[in-house]
Amino acid sequence: MATHDPRPIGNTDLHVHPVGLGCMGMSEFYGPAMDEDAAVELIHQALERGVNHFDTAEMYGIGHNEALLGRALRDRRDGLVIATKFGPLRDRETGEFTGVDGSRDNVRRASDGSLERLGTTIDLYYLHRMDPATPIETTAEAVAELVEEGKVRSFGLSEAGPETIRRAHAVLPLTAVQTEYSLFSRGVESGVLPVCRELGITLVAYSPLGRGLLTGRFDRESRPDGEGEFRQGGSQPRFAEGNYERNLALVETVKEVAGRHGVTPAQVALAWVLGRGQEVVSIPGTTKLENLESNLGALDVSLTDEDRETLEGLGELVAGERYNEYGMQAVEE
Ligand code: ATR
Repeated sequence: MATHDPRPIGNTDLHVHPVGLGCMGMSEFYGPAMDEDAAVELIHQALERGVNHFDTAEMYGIGHNEALLGRALRDRRDGLVIATKFGPLRDRETGEFTGVDGSRDNVRRASDGSLERLGTTIDLYYLHRMDPATPIETTAEAVAELVEEGKVRSFGLSEAGPETIRRAHAVLPLTAVQTEYSLFSRGVESGVLPVCRELGITLVAYSPLGRGLLTGRFDRESRPDGEGEFRQGGSQPRFAEGNYERNLALVETVKEVAGRHGVTPAQVALAWVLGRGQEVVSIPGTTKLENLESNLGALDVSLTDEDRETLEGLGELVAGERYNEYGMQAVEE
């Protein structure tokens, strides 16, 4: 069983609860933004239950998500790890993505905005996607300046491959690498996770619930759709016609394991991620207190070797890439 003990992250003296809170869905991508008061209340409820790792990004709601977190955590700063990310650029009017900028100028611009919206220092500052036009060393040096200035405590990369991780780490030691990691997304195991282990970098697993698929909440009749829903085949091939049905069939295996323990499929999916090692922590996203509580309950689930064997093959069977072609170009594995 994964213990409830806080896990140290990277090279720092910071510790995080193994189950953090991914805040993206409070602002966009999984339907309309939450009511702001309700979002602040949910963050406070998470704090009360021991969650101390909150993950946001400049691009989530183009500043909206950071401002929300800043409002919720104002005056409750002690012992928290507030993580945000920079790099991707968006058109403010249309929300369209216009590129990634890891240059020093953009590090300065983005961090000024994030610090202002969060109203506090940044514990973990990630380059959200790699910028092919800027050497990672340049970005690392720019973040090192922020560390020297006391604005940022530590550095991370999101969706970076092993080579980039090594190069960045040589300039400014990385605290965390964030990537999608779940029963359905195991790509990280071949290169990124071993390098993280070697260098003492924490792996922060985002979408540990397969963007909700692994929770068993979706079926053929109730698929994610509607305004602001990014989990459509065009953006997310795993939700595309055909792939979606095949992936739902795989979730039956997760339900079977959940049935053996009398727990939920979401708890099994999360317990599996948390059982990968002390250097792995998770940031499931939720907008609901009952789901937050259920996710925290994953720490009480003890998967057996037999369970792990049953679940082992799912990653290879999953239908569809993590992102569409444009999105996949922006991730390194
Ligand atoms: P991401 O990291 O991208 O947020 P994720 O953590 O894999 O992705 O999954 C998030 C999705 O799972 C959200 O749609 C969330 O919906 P709610 O906001 O309605 O909770 C859903 N989710 C999270 N925890 C869940 C749980 N315990 N049971 C069912 N659905 C859950």
